[in-house]
Amino acid sequence: MHFKLWYLIFIIFFTNTNFIVKINAEGKNNGFIQRKLGLYISDRPKNILVGSVIGGGSHLNPMLEICKILEDRGYKVTLAAPGNFTAKSTLYHSIPQIITGERRDTYKLPGYNKAFFNKYTFKNLVDSRKDTNERYIKTFNNYLQAYKETYADLLFCDYSANDACFDLAWKLKKPVVGFASTTVYFTPPHPFISDPMMNCNVNMEHESFYNRFICALVQPLRISWYFRKNLEYLNSKRAEVGVNKHDDFRGRITNTLFLIDTFFGFEISSAWNPIHQEIGPILPDTYPGLSPDLELFLSTHPRTMYIALGTYVYTTTNNYVILLQSALELINHNILDGVIWATVKFNESELPSTFTLSTGDVIPTSNLLDNLYPHIHITKFAPQFAILSHENTKVFLSHGGIGSSHESMYTATPMLVLPIAFDQPGNAERLELSGMALKLSKLDLKIDDIESKVIKLMNEKRFKMNAKRMQTLAKFNSKRKYRGADLIEIVMNLAEQEGVRNENNELEVDNDVLLRHWITPDSRMGLIRGKYLDVFGAAVIIGITLIGGFGYGSYKIIRFAFKRWFSKGKDARENSSKHKNE
Ligand SMILES: *[C@@H]1O[C@H](CO)[C@@H](O)[C@H](O)[C@H]1NC(C)=O
Ligand SMILES: *[C@@H]1O[C@H](CO)[C@@H](O)[C@H](O)[C@H]1NC(C)=O
Repeated sequence: MHFKLWYLIFIIFFTNTNFIVKINAEGKNNGFIQRKLGLYISDRPKNILVGSVIGGGSHLNPMLEICKILEDRGYKVTLAAPGNFTAKSTLYHSIPQIITGERRDTYKLPGYNKAFFNKYTFKNLVDSRKDTNERYIKTFNNYLQAYKETYADLLFCDYSANDACFDLAWKLKKPVVGFASTTVYFTPPHPFISDPMMNCNVNMEHESFYNRFICALVQPLRISWYFRKNLEYLNSKRAEVGVNKHDDFRGRITNTLFLIDTFFGFEISSAWNPIHQEIGPILPDTYPGLSPDLELFLSTHPRTMYIALGTYVYTTTNNYVILLQSALELINHNILDGVIWATVKFNESELPSTFTLSTGDVIPTSNLLDNLYPHIHITKFAPQFAILSHENTKVFLSHGGIGSSHESMYTATPMLVLPIAFDQPGNAERLELSGMALKLSKLDLKIDDIESKVIKLMNEKRFKMNAKRMQTLAKFNSKRKYRGADLIEIVMNLAEQEGVRNENNELEVDNDVLLRHWITPDSRMGLIRGKYLDVFGAAVIIGITLIGGFGYGSYKIIRFAFKRWFSKGKDARENSSKHKNE
């Protein structure tokens, strides 16, 4: 009753907008003053230095998207990364780049063939870090040089293999913000989350005790053990440039603010450390449109599958042949009528000269490659977002890179995921768990399997429904790149307030205390107090004592009562027999 009355008053008051407008127009009676929205920004231009060792293309775009927002807000941003990227980029050419060497092609990196062609495990990850650790000093000096050219007030560091960037900030006492696109290395606080890289699942909810034990305890210990030599080596290199050693192989993740390009729904939900903030999915506001020939192809092929395995990874020629053969069979069986294949990485001279379909038709490979076969369009580069946005694109066969996954969710395109390495196997599991995707195995790729999965994705409504659910989450969360920029501004302003100027008039901060408001008290309380093991341990002991005491007491009482009853019964029987005798 009460509630209804208040509700009525509320409705009458707030739906009567005329009434409110009238008060505001008079401006006398309400006593309201506009809250100042201007945020604190000092007159000094603030310089931000962005550091990445991987560089170019899909990897850097989300970080640079945040940088563009900061530029619009009056900050000066400079990128230090290998390759000549921003000058050639349409979206990010406003950001000047200090080129720190050539971008390394994955084909030429040691160990990548092994990692891409076999099962990808944490050992591949550790081994690939050897290579970056060997170049630590060079990278560190590149960043130092870039700092001297920009006098940056804040470093914004890409997380991947980039210890030098974080270390430089610590050494120079500059505020630093990290950026990561995956949670793989941030998982240890939540034992129910793991990764295929560790031979575990991203969600351990339904796993046996044995698997949970292995994945929560044994595998993390194995990783640290496997990393130890790398870490020793890295610490020796750190010593050479005057950086204190750091004993967490994951880097400075516990006391650095990290922006993470992901969102719950895609990510397994769990309580995060406040110093790790999810701000994804980050997508640019504009995207390149379809070329006339793609526009024509898509509009004339209402059931198109789009294939793109990314610009960075590759798979075996045998797998490429299976994918091409599957595409042809799917078209031949009239399940699809079009296939667009972009970012092709296969070596054309290693493909067979013809493809023979199950119906006996023979298609010369050269016809496919020259786009003479009317149902398949092969191209090196493609406007991916425009293709995914087209209503005739029904399925996306992808390697499951984070950027492609975000775009597919944003456009509600069901996916068939063929993960190759890095975070991709984990992404494939996350996408499958979301109900909008099915996954394939690069080690056991089969035409029948691909065909039956494409049929499922096209015919079962649940995939599209779940994709739409992910679309809602992705669309609303994609506004959070502005939050990412806000967080960087917060750190800069705190540094301005709390920093101390040194003899060169440079602002220095204590990174260990600058972000204390985001660091949870348990990190200072030690393992036992922090996890409340003392309290819960005591509770268990008290519980056991009480249950034990109660059990023992009950036992005594029952024994006593039983004895009494037994002896009473005996007396009674004796009495009754006496009576009978009488
Ligand atoms: C980078 O690319 C731009 C645009 O193509 C070009 O003008 C510039 O000379 C290049 N810089 C280097 C160092 O190659
Ligand atoms: C393509 O394959 C042929 C034959 O195996 C080989 O000779 C050639 O070097 C390869 N090309 C590339 C770019 O890898």
